[in-house]
Amino acid sequence: MKASHRKSRVRDAVIRRLLLISVIGVVLFVLLMRTNTIVDLFTKYSFESDERFEEIHNNYSLVLKKNLNLPKQNELSISLENRNQMPPRNLDLYPKLAKNHIVIVLYVHNRPQYLQVVVDSLSRVVGISETLLIVSHDGYFKEMNKIVESIKFCQVKQIFAPYSPHVFPNTFPGISPYDCKDKDGSLKMKCEGTPDQYGNHRSPKIVSLKHHWWWMMNTVWDGLEETRGHFGHILFIEEDHFIYPNAYRNLQVLTELKPKKCPHCYAANLAPSDVKSRGEKWESLIAERMGNVGYTFNRTVWRMIHRKAREFCSFDDYNWDITMWATVYPSFGGPVYTLRAPRTSAIHFGKCGLHQGQGENAACIDNGALNFEVEEIDKVQNVKRNWGVHVYEHQAGYQAGFRGWGGWGDIRDREMCLDFAKMYGALDIVEV
Ligand SMILES: *[C@@H]1O[C@H](CO)[C@@H](O)[C@H](O)[C@H]1NC(C)=O
Ligand SMILES: *[C@@H]1O[C@H](CO)[C@@H](O)[C@H](O)[C@H]1NC(C)=O
Repeated sequence: MKASHRKSRVRDAVIRRLLLISVIGVVLFVLLMRTNTIVDLFTKYSFESDERFEEIHNNYSLVLKKNLNLPKQNELSISLENRNQMPPRNLDLYPKLAKNHIVIVLYVHNRPQYLQVVVDSLSRVVGISETLLIVSHDGYFKEMNKIVESIKFCQVKQIFAPYSPHVFPNTFPGISPYDCKDKDGSLKMKCEGTPDQYGNHRSPKIVSLKHHWWWMMNTVWDGLEETRGHFGHILFIEEDHFIYPNAYRNLQVLTELKPKKCPHCYAANLAPSDVKSRGEKWESLIAERMGNVGYTFNRTVWRMIHRKAREFCSFDDYNWDITMWATVYPSFGGPVYTLRAPRTSAIHFGKCGLHQGQGENAACIDNGALNFEVEEIDKVQNVKRNWGVHVYEHQAGYQAGFRGWGGWGDIRDREMCLDFAKMYGALDIVEV
């Protein structure tokens, strides 16, 4: 009797001690979480100052990557990531960048014939030797590399998206044998994947574009030695954008005029947001909705975009630009205008014969030759500083409320996307 009584008393004491320990544990945990949230909030607001961000940034980046759930890398992926640390080429030819240079980021996949045309057009851009060109590759393709390696007209830095689906032949984010396909039900078929809002499963080829864009944005603003300290503008172009000789000089004037002439403008653009248009050719600057050809903005705007990582990564549309128009820009609390010239300085081209609803005048390429020529007036800087600004209000286009075209339903894609936003230690996404 007595023995069992003592036994139960000992047991009670043990239970009480265990309880106490777990209560202390929980309290500590809650306290820690609180502190984290406070740190997050604090950093969120203090990030209004970019210098502070840069300072905190370096200390957290190494720690953070360990806590992320990024896919296990294969050899190619690791070697690409290491290669991204290599210094720019042509430092011997152009040892110094001009003060107030606008960095140019060219993001490409695998259309060497197009890339050659774009690179040739860049070689004729006045002022390009003053700046750094970053070529961001979605996948590793020898022919694409050969073209980039041949560039001699400015500093060039190549970066490769190490988590591109094109780098993973048989595991996520590439195609994995366990993935659900098309309209498979994941429960019934015992396959992996979450369908999008229309019931379709992910396609690695299709999601790669949005992944690349987001990885590239995070990397050029927050992840590269060469650009982390860059407080000016960065211009973004693609492998099917022909760039006019006056693009760089025009852009310098536009970004200089922006604060005075269009304080509401977030960016400057090389081309109209209507990709078919080559501009109104008026004697006036134009402010309109943000376009997707030759958009140029600064770090302040990047931080605003980055803070919307959750919105960007969870919106069910595989297009980065539609995602921006329908979720990120509307969350800025007002129309997001960009400033541009009345004559275009960049053209989006396609393959001749494939009109894709662009009409007969669409810029196109056939066997490496383009179907248009640059006029003399577009070879020199042609933006006048005394022009007024014509504002297009209430333009048509994708807006808040649009639910997306789908293709971005898989939780794994959304999580990898969020991890890209955290990869370099940016703490301005408030955890929920
Ligand atoms: C970051 O680390 C450096 C040394 O590694 C230190 O001097 C600096 O104070 C740290 N900054 C912050 C904000 O913790
Ligand atoms: C960056 O651009 C935004 C929008 O045009 C502007 O409000 C901000 O002052 C600029 N930041 C810097 C550091 O120039």
